[in-house]
Amino acid sequence: MNGPSRPWDGLTGMAYSEAIDRAAVCGQITEQQWQQEVWSLLERSYLAAPSVYGGSGSGGDGQAWERKRRAIADAVHRDGDFLDVGCANGLLMESIVPWAAARGYTVAPYGLDVSAALIQHAAERLPAWADRLFVGDAAVWHPPRRFDFVRTEAVYAPPGRRRALVLRLLHEVVAPGGRLIVCAYGGGDITRELSGWDIPYAGCATTYRDDGRIWNSIAWIEAP
Ligand SMILES: C[S@@+](CC[C@H](N)C(=O)[O-])C[C@H]1O[C@@H](n2cnc3c(N)ncnc32)[C@H](O)[C@@H]1O
Repeated sequence: MNGPSRPWDGLTGMAYSEAIDRAAVCGQITEQQWQQEVWSLLERSYLAAPSVYGGSGSGGDGQAWERKRRAIADAVHRDGDFLDVGCANGLLMESIVPWAAARGYTVAPYGLDVSAALIQHAAERLPAWADRLFVGDAAVWHPPRRFDFVRTEAVYAPPGRRRALVLRLLHEVVAPGGRLIVCAYGGGDITRELSGWDIPYAGCATTYRDDGRIWNSIAWIEAP
């Protein structure tokens, strides 16, 4: 699809996501085209980002990063491994260690990303954790082991495959008794989405912009 029939061209953030999702839902692009478009855009923009925060898809500075993402640590209620699905440059892997420690817990971070170039970049930034980084599509990746805490976003799969992604990670990647932490960044409410998919969640946390709009929505699901 080229030219004016690509309504997502030039859009950013939620507007981009909504436009490209609509194109997939309406059959204007295939699921493979959706993946190519979304994954290559994320890879290009994160690798070109001028700050470490931008390299994980967050605008603003360290204060904004913490304000948006720190609530993910609310899902950590004991020591364990923490797999960041869609780890980009590895910044959340780094951040979750002190955030969990402030709650009294020790986590060992791991990362998975569909972009080999971003995993390479993460390994260069975090050489001590290079052997904890994996390349793969979360929807089909076979983990070498299970993890106590697994963080993801549902939007890592094309529309129509998001419930399946959440359930697959819950049943095939999270260790028994562990937690799948599902995030929606940029305005969505993940608790509504999970409820609509008939997936019960055990807890949730929300971060807000100054004007009261949702910034990040986070919910966690207990693995059987
Ligand atoms: C917004 S960043 C998340 C960065 C960081 N984990 C955080 O929470 O701030 C999204 C990352 O997910 C990766 N990603 C998207 N779809 C994926 C998939 N199906 N499997 C694995 N990684 C995926 C992208 O390449 C991108 O690096």
